[in-house]
Amino acid sequence: MAEAFNDKTLTADKAARYAEVAQEIASVLDGEGNLTARMATVASMLASSFDHYFWTGFYVVDPTKDRELVVGPYQGTLGCLRIAYGRGVCGTAAETGQTQLVEDVHAFPGHIACDSRSASEIVVPVFDAAGTLLAVFDVDSDRPAAFDAVDRQGLEFILKATFA
Ligand code: SME
Repeated sequence: MAEAFNDKTLTADKAARYAEVAQEIASVLDGEGNLTARMATVASMLASSFDHYFWTGFYVVDPTKDRELVVGPYQGTLGCLRIAYGRGVCGTAAETGQTQLVEDVHAFPGHIACDSRSASEIVVPVFDAAGTLLAVFDVDSDRPAAFDAVDRQGLEFILKATFA
């Protein structure tokens, strides 16, 4: 009973923090059109908002390559530089255009381990206003099953509000 209560309290706190940081990001980025500045700000502000985030950042679509992502603004330990569409969690998000919520990265076929401490992960595709894929936003946690529907809703909302 106590545990269930705590879980609900945490969930409510987390949802409230996403709503708060969404407003903070919108306010900091008001009037700023540069895409790199927008991505760097989103990565920095989200990474410093949540304890369960371990690696936080963008893999952007490389227009000079065929179906390939290249690392963009991020916070965390060294990330791999390039990921082909369809490879790992990020490549799957790019290929399908769907958010990938992975409770155990070691059970995900083809998962790319940039840092062996990563245990769970969420990757959200990022589209512009015309619906073209710009990037994917990747958050890794060193805790297993760290992400849930609240993270998904919070991140999908913020990324749509910022880039679409
Ligand atoms: N784990 C990701 C690769 C990116 S890093 O973890 C920073 C994947 O499988 O797509």
